[in-house]
Amino acid sequence: MYKIAVIPGDGTGPEVIREGCKVLSAVSNKMGFKLEFTKFDLSGERYLKTGALLLDEELEELKKYDAIYFGAIGHPDIKPGILERGVLLKLRFELDQYINLRPVKLYPNVYTPIKDKGPNDIDFVVVRENTEGLYTGTGGIMKKGTPDEVAIQTSINTRKGVERCIRFAYEYTRKRDKKKRLTLCGKTNVLTYAFDLWDRVFNEIGKKYYPEIERDYVHVDALTLYMIEKPEFYDVIVTDNMFGDIITDLAAIIQGGLGIASGGNLNPEGLSMFEPIGGTAPKHTGKNEINPLAAIGSGAMMLDFLGEEKAAKAIEAAIIKVTPKMKSMRAAEMGYTTQEVGDLVVKEL
Ligand code: IPM
Ligand code: MN
Repeated sequence: MYKIAVIPGDGTGPEVIREGCKVLSAVSNKMGFKLEFTKFDLSGERYLKTGALLLDEELEELKKYDAIYFGAIGHPDIKPGILERGVLLKLRFELDQYINLRPVKLYPNVYTPIKDKGPNDIDFVVVRENTEGLYTGTGGIMKKGTPDEVAIQTSINTRKGVERCIRFAYEYTRKRDKKKRLTLCGKTNVLTYAFDLWDRVFNEIGKKYYPEIERDYVHVDALTLYMIEKPEFYDVIVTDNMFGDIITDLAAIIQGGLGIASGGNLNPEGLSMFEPIGGTAPKHTGKNEINPLAAIGSGAMMLDFLGEEKAAKAIEAAIIKVTPKMKSMRAAEMGYTTQEVGDLVVKEL
């Protein structure tokens, strides 16, 4: 039995998480294990009513669970940054979820905007560092609103943080056992301190412990070009928090869009959290038209991480049977409702 903390959140979060839980329950019944879901009301809605973000006692409570299943958080009436820092990033940081794992796989019959590329060409994984870099909130504003204003935001890169991320990426490349190529995405030509550290750790660890893994380096700007031109070259890409954020939106669109892009915030030694990488989609909220496959895929990643690999594979196999039936991965254009897509996945299971 696994205890799952569920945070549906705002916008379309609850709609996609509902389908995800449906699929997870179906697969657990079939495979003979139990999932117990407990809802946590962390949301922009609650913040507007009570002023509460993620409370310390909630954080303590969450630690009793085996995994967190997260929808999306955000609210059009709340200034950007408040919910992100107060809930999502607080969860990632406080639970030390130092890896953000984002698989990029084009499923059969899913539209990609890249001409002449297919499922055989688009199949790689981004390992994004998830607790450091520009995301730490280090810095400040001085003389705000005056002509002498100064704004500083510092990228923090620790040996420990970089090393554990890079080690994870090598291990993952080894276990994945595909092209056996790990690409470091950086900016060594300009960010000569931060990526000097990344580059040295990348090569040291690779030479010493993973000689069979090919080491590849690319500047982040060039990667945005290559990812479109030759996505088939990539196997596993490791990068820092900010670059990882940016390149995984680009990666999401080449695999069919945010409707199908899944992710996991991993603490390999602790509590992990699984979330579709798209946001709250206010335009589509409450219309039963958002694509739940990203959330369903994130649920599969959660099971994989919990050690239920067979169940995870079964969900992925079912998704692969459902995507060809759908007109599009885009919200409101699927040819099915949110609920129907969830039902189709359950049926294929
Ligand atoms: C993501 C999101 C978040 C991030 C935001 C919502 C804070 O864009 O998960 O990629 O920047 O990490
Ligand atoms: Mn992002």
